[in-house]
Amino acid sequence: MFVSSTYKKKLIKQEDNPDLVIFNANELITMNTKFGAPRIGKNMSELSIIDNGAIGVKDDRIIYVGTTDELISKFSLNEIKTKIDAKNKLVTPGFVDPHTHIIFDGSRENELQMKLDGKSYLEILQAGGGILKTVRETRKASLEKLVENGKKILDRMMNYGTTTVEAKSGYGLSTESELKILKVLQILNEEHPLDIVSTFLGAHAIPIEYKDNPDDYVELIISDMIPKIVKEGLAEFCDVFCEKGIFSIEQSRKILKTALRYGLKPQIHIDEIADSNGALLAAELKAIQTGHLLKSNDNGLKAMAEAGVIATLLPGTPFCLMLKEYAPARKMIELEIPIALATDLNPNCWTESMQMIMTLACYHMKLSPAEALTATTINSACAIDRQDEIGSIEVGKKADIVIFDVPNYNFLPYQFGVNLVSKVIKNGKILINND
Ligand code: NIG
Ligand code: FE
Repeated sequence: MFVSSTYKKKLIKQEDNPDLVIFNANELITMNTKFGAPRIGKNMSELSIIDNGAIGVKDDRIIYVGTTDELISKFSLNEIKTKIDAKNKLVTPGFVDPHTHIIFDGSRENELQMKLDGKSYLEILQAGGGILKTVRETRKASLEKLVENGKKILDRMMNYGTTTVEAKSGYGLSTESELKILKVLQILNEEHPLDIVSTFLGAHAIPIEYKDNPDDYVELIISDMIPKIVKEGLAEFCDVFCEKGIFSIEQSRKILKTALRYGLKPQIHIDEIADSNGALLAAELKAIQTGHLLKSNDNGLKAMAEAGVIATLLPGTPFCLMLKEYAPARKMIELEIPIALATDLNPNCWTESMQMIMTLACYHMKLSPAEALTATTINSACAIDRQDEIGSIEVGKKADIVIFDVPNYNFLPYQFGVNLVSKVIKNGKILINND
């Protein structure tokens, strides 16, 4: 659960001694928000690095950030309970994964062969596979089973350095099943150490019962699902899969405008397979973030830049769909659109690793390692409206910190397919210790 940072900041006193310190860090990446939150354009490469860096933590908060020499002169290290020597290591803010679909039952490993045989994503979906297969299995699963599945995924995410996750419903597609999934997320947020930000994605696909009257399904979302979800306080964001053959621009606008009226924050999956002017809609609705954008047109991108909409790029998805094309990240940076990166974890694209996503972003979208790190920390915190609490290492923020067993940040995308995490600290507690 999040506590207001201004409240916590007041509690941090000058004379407080840390109960945990990290020192001797070869590179401490602070992502200081003086370069913007979110960072855009050239500022996406500004990491605010401290050599031989140190951090002081008290309870769940950061109370000191600076060099190791200053830390030693300021505090008496003998009295500090937990001291972590980060010699030759890299220290960064915890990864924030701002777009995932972690609650589902079953899996779709069989679809890999279908993709190798040349079947497209929409062909697999139209044949009753894809999202609809996962919906059939998730509807049948008990709440307990889904909690168990979700825990496994969150544990793995934490192991790979993620400390906060956005997670969507969307494999229920009925009022009862969508509420079940959002309740699973609520339980996980209470029981699991990672923080979860919940998004209602009832408009993920047209369920089979509504295939001949999709507008009636839109009506169900608007008049039944959204009011019930808001009444029970089960989501903060509302998302729609706006794509040709799924939800049209008009249907998406209708759903998201209703969501806005109910106090949910809008976000949208747009222009993944074809350009349907999704970027323009994201700008019109002033969505905080919007995902995919492989095919978005220049007008839409310019409107997004103007409206300050964050482009959450999901390179795992074109990778798993075996596409040649990725989102035009360089053009977006040129246009000063803020970029975030996410796993998009779902049964079609199953990875818990933001390290892997950084690799794909650099090799396939030509982000620099510095830009990729900005996009997985401070910018992704902005994409879920948590920039006051997480995403950078600054006094007053939550102590969500990762120590990597590498000397510098260039290694994160460079040495791939293995876990480079040495320690994960969440809310000031060491949760993962691989040393
Ligand atoms: O973001 N594109 C829509 N939704 C997910 C995929 C869901 C699935 O295939 O199960 C995505 O890629
Ligand atoms: Fe997605």
